[in-house]
Amino acid sequence: MRVFLTGVSGQLGQALLPALGTETIFAPNEHALDIRDRSATAQAIADAAPDIVIHAAAMTNVDECALNPDMAYRINALGTRNVALACQATGAVLAYISTNEVFDGFKGEPYLEYDTPNPINAYGRSKLAGEWFTQTLLQRFYVIRTAWLFSSRSANFLQQILRKADERGRLRVVTDEVSSPTYAPDLAQAIVRLIRTDCYGIYHLVNEGACSRFTFARRVLDLSGRGQIPIEPISRNQYPRPSTPPTYSALRNFAAAELGIRLRGWEEALAEFLLT
Ligand SMILES: NC(=O)c1ccc[n+]([C@@H]2O[C@H](COP(=O)([O-])OP(=O)(O)OC[C@H]3O[C@@H](n4cnc5c(N)ncnc54)[C@H](OP(=O)(O)O)[C@@H]3O)[C@@H](O)[C@H]2O)c1
Repeated sequence: MRVFLTGVSGQLGQALLPALGTETIFAPNEHALDIRDRSATAQAIADAAPDIVIHAAAMTNVDECALNPDMAYRINALGTRNVALACQATGAVLAYISTNEVFDGFKGEPYLEYDTPNPINAYGRSKLAGEWFTQTLLQRFYVIRTAWLFSSRSANFLQQILRKADERGRLRVVTDEVSSPTYAPDLAQAIVRLIRTDCYGIYHLVNEGACSRFTFARRVLDLSGRGQIPIEPISRNQYPRPSTPPTYSALRNFAAAELGIRLRGWEEALAEFLLT
């Protein structure tokens, strides 16, 4: 299979490279291909003539998206339109990586693939617009929603917890934001299995289970030998930030599980990541 990968320098892109193994991979970095440039995107994908484009590139800093929503739409919505148009022109399948933040968080139980999105922040709105372009411009697509990625890459929540714990010796973390922590290499393996099924559609790929940011941080500190570091539980209104995250945005993997594609529990994945 010939695979064109956007966002190769990112957390998921780096996990996808080894997961894709011996597939033929074309993976320009942002400096080689800015997806905001429609003709460059069309040319790069036409030149590679891939069977599938895995589109992991995005503006992922939710606070920056809130502060600069136009930029979020340029990259996450119109950039995805450019990628989808290139797939349309070449006949490539598109696997678009989306997010738990397309949901408003009011359901109170894990979101199914078939629940109605209703984003409450600029990041979620721009990513949902990317879903619309994917679904309206193409017949053969996967929309793959995931959440709370962690890996050895430096910018994610887990790495921030470790850094701040070491710098400050104590933490304050919110209890009223709940979702599904997901180990990027587990997600990458599930994506590679999914794109070999030809069962197109919307999927939720996350490690099983859900927890609050507080519980996740506590487990990270305990497993990483920092069990003595205290964490003060706080609510979101004690931690003002530009973006408003959904309160409860856990995802349920229903559709991929029907194909036999399940991810292990987040605690098992976290333990393996931190202890090995
Ligand atoms: N991280 C999470 O917790 C999370 C949760 C749910 C969904 N997702 C989704 O999962 C996907 C992968 O996320 P991630 O954590 O791997 O993100 P990431 O680590 O922030 O990486 C984003 C990637 O996108 C590239 N990029 C940004 N703007 C670009 C542009 N204009 N043109 C081309 N490339 C551009 C970046 O390149 P540079 O490095 O050169 O800037 C980087 O390679 C995204 O679609 C994201 O929305 C992530």
